[in-house]
Amino acid sequence: MDFNDKVVLITGASSGIGAATAIHFSKLSASLALVGRKENNLKRIALYCEKAKGIKPLTIVADVTDDSALERIVTETINNFGKIDVLINNAGVIAMGGLKTSDVDTYDKVMAVNMRAVFQLTKLFTQHLVESKGCIVNVSSILSTKVTTQSLAYSLSKAALDQFTKCVALELAPDGVRVNSVNPSYVKTNLLKDIGLTDDQLDLYTQNFVSKTPLKKLVEGDEVASLIAFLASDKAKSITGTCAAIDAGKSLS
Ligand SMILES: NC(=O)c1ccc[n+]([C@@H]2O[C@H](COP(=O)([O-])OP(=O)(O)OC[C@H]3O[C@@H](n4cnc5c(N)ncnc54)[C@H](OP(=O)(O)O)[C@@H]3O)[C@@H](O)[C@H]2O)c1
Repeated sequence: MDFNDKVVLITGASSGIGAATAIHFSKLSASLALVGRKENNLKRIALYCEKAKGIKPLTIVADVTDDSALERIVTETINNFGKIDVLINNAGVIAMGGLKTSDVDTYDKVMAVNMRAVFQLTKLFTQHLVESKGCIVNVSSILSTKVTTQSLAYSLSKAALDQFTKCVALELAPDGVRVNSVNPSYVKTNLLKDIGLTDDQLDLYTQNFVSKTPLKKLVEGDEVASLIAFLASDKAKSITGTCAAIDAGKSLS
């Protein structure tokens, strides 16, 4: 698999799954545009990527909830590379709580990053993706379909994202643009740390999660990155509108 001369944009590339995906694509010779808010983290990941094949990524410091920042992401990418081949909508946030224990502000904040920004950034890139006959991979979650009481707004955002993946896949199929998602179970990243879980709480959560997962393992960020790269590659040229679970069997339990 080779992404030589392919331009791949990853949102949320400064941490976790997005960072692992950036590093994975850099080893496959992709030209990268990396988006995140924390400039130092973004630059650190960009340096890792550059070491792989000597190709310097474009870094774009941007908050995806800001419409003008989304327009800047598109302008900077096209000005720098002249095209985009792969759009990876990965930036995301989580919030805990169900209907009784969360509020509409939480709902708005989660939807703003996990769904609204994806809608708008994809829309802004659509004509460019049509021109390149490119593809889109969205980073969803098994919580888009698995029913729990723990994170209502997050689950709703990912359920909406799966439907976005399918509707846009159908709409853009005549243009030769494929759209898929990856739907991981729990991956140990900064996602839960950012909502205040301590290291001890995370360790406990991780142990508990593994013990209740059929394959008795956690999914790693680089496994998700490999699946994203597969879906973005020619090997997946007949795959569109798929929401691919990568969950060590968690959805079965
Ligand atoms: N970890 C899991 O268990 C898991 C499971 C299933 C799906 N996912 C999904 O995987 C994706 C990546 O999450 P992760 O686990 O890798 O978490 P993470 O380590 O916390 O990374 C989240 C990334 O999203 C970026 N981001 C968040 N809000 C943003 C905003 N407003 N504007 C721009 N960038 C923003 C962060 O950028 P900065 O750090 O620079 O702010 C960071 O790069 C998310 O969509 C998440 O829902 C995660």
